[in-house]
Amino acid sequence: MTAHHPALQIETRPIDGQRPGTSGLRKTVTQFRQPGYLENFIQSIFDAMPGITGQTLVLGGDGRTFNREAIQVILRMAAANGVGRVLLGQHGILSTPAASAVIRKHQAFGGIILSASHNPGGEDGDFGVKFNIANGGPAPEKVTEAIFSKTRQITRYNILAEGGVDLHRLGAQALGDMTIDVIDSVDDYAQLMRRLFDFPAIRNLFSSGFRMRFDAMHAVTGPYAKAILEGMLGAAEGTVMNAIPLPDFGGGHPDPNLVHAHELVAALSGADAPDFGAASDGDGDRNMIIGQNFYVTPSDSLAVLVANARLAPGYAHGLAGVARSMPTSQAADRVALALGLTCYETPTGWKFFGNLMDAGLVSLCGEESFGTGSDHVREKDGLWAVLLWLNILAERRQSVEQILREHWRTYGRNYYSRHDYEGLPSEAADGVMEHLRARLPDLTGCHFGRFTVERADDFAYVDPVDDSVSSGQGIRIIFTDGSRIVFRLSGTGTVGATLRLYIEQFEPDPTRHDLDTQIVLADLIGLAEQLGEVKQRTGRAAPTVIT
Ligand code: G1P
Ligand code: ZN
Repeated sequence: MTAHHPALQIETRPIDGQRPGTSGLRKTVTQFRQPGYLENFIQSIFDAMPGITGQTLVLGGDGRTFNREAIQVILRMAAANGVGRVLLGQHGILSTPAASAVIRKHQAFGGIILSASHNPGGEDGDFGVKFNIANGGPAPEKVTEAIFSKTRQITRYNILAEGGVDLHRLGAQALGDMTIDVIDSVDDYAQLMRRLFDFPAIRNLFSSGFRMRFDAMHAVTGPYAKAILEGMLGAAEGTVMNAIPLPDFGGGHPDPNLVHAHELVAALSGADAPDFGAASDGDGDRNMIIGQNFYVTPSDSLAVLVANARLAPGYAHGLAGVARSMPTSQAADRVALALGLTCYETPTGWKFFGNLMDAGLVSLCGEESFGTGSDHVREKDGLWAVLLWLNILAERRQSVEQILREHWRTYGRNYYSRHDYEGLPSEAADGVMEHLRARLPDLTGCHFGRFTVERADDFAYVDPVDDSVSSGQGIRIIFTDGSRIVFRLSGTGTVGATLRLYIEQFEPDPTRHDLDTQIVLADLIGLAEQLGEVKQRTGRAAPTVIT
């Protein structure tokens, strides 16, 4: 350590509630600003990962409020904890998938990604810290639990007394004995995309008059989408809307769904609408796909991508297998079956896909929550999904709607919807789950109208690679016709509890593929509310969000 940067050991004590959830430690900005809050958690990462000494760490975030301040603190702590080198995204910016790509390309020890994903930002919004391991993916449960246990025992943290870093100047800087390389946030990622997809074919598509809108929602994908879509692929200027990342996302909720991406939805409706629309979330890992006046559910999008992946050069040799999270619809399973691929069913959250990909068992995977990805990184990847769609559209030269209708004719349609009850008192949400758990043993064989329960359980997953077991992952009620109701509690919220109901019904008959989803699912939705005693226990007449 140089004389100008003495390392200090600051005394601290454990702070409650620092257990990482579905996707890192996510709390309000106000909580993160409390003295020692960020420092305790970061020190706990270093304490749980002693091998990091002398190694390379990747660092960046989605640009939300507190991003740059947190980065300066983390850099001084990394230097004081003996990290050798940090690869830092310029301006403190790295999307989650780009961070994953950088970790893999530069064979880093791991990475710290600062994001609360699609949660609102700004002074009154949320902040988050995620730790990713050397494969580029989220830390597995044994690592997050080790970090959590360090937060329970912490007595001091290490930090340089002073020293700041210029986050804007590309190239190397020193902080204590540590080197910081400020890297272009987009380059490595864009090169990876160019290898996977047929960029000339997509360029041709755009030059033949094809029009698109991409809504970056004032979040991290703005610079990535501008550089790739408008720069490398020649899409018209203005294709990317809300392209400038803002600390409060322009006051919006950077979640790409029909409710929050309403500007995009409006742009894609009407007779003169563009051919293709897409949006991404705060940290760039989610995506929503829409056609002209036509919405594609994330579960259907995954199924279409699996069915058509071979049209893109990166997947032309075929897929190893596919995976979906348990609550995601079974549309992808049907494609996998037809293609002779194994389809793995994992608990919610991206971390479970990593092992399958590292073992070469899976190439494509996805979740109903607007997440799709492949083994090119170990995170879901919003822009990747958009580019694969573009590659497919460039080859097939059909509209999004034509592609979906043809897909349903071939494989049948899985009508699907998710109903969220947000901001519930924890006791009410836990009450629903406990009540259902108690009923599980008696449900099998029960008849409810035209539905008969084939199986009801609390989903447990045995990882086929390392045999680790994750239990209590959601209540599944599966009917003999393949329909399903799933109940689970969110692991990413910061206020109260969120109960999620997932409802799915399979329809093979093409004459019934044009119906309203909520109407088709009405009986199952009613049954779900009744079985979970949702109204009585939550006091809510209706869900807060329907997707
Ligand atoms: C939610 C989604 C889940 C996703 C996660 C992180 O988690 O449901 O699929 O992986 O966000 O983006 P939940 O709040 O349901 O625990
Ligand atoms: Zn996200």
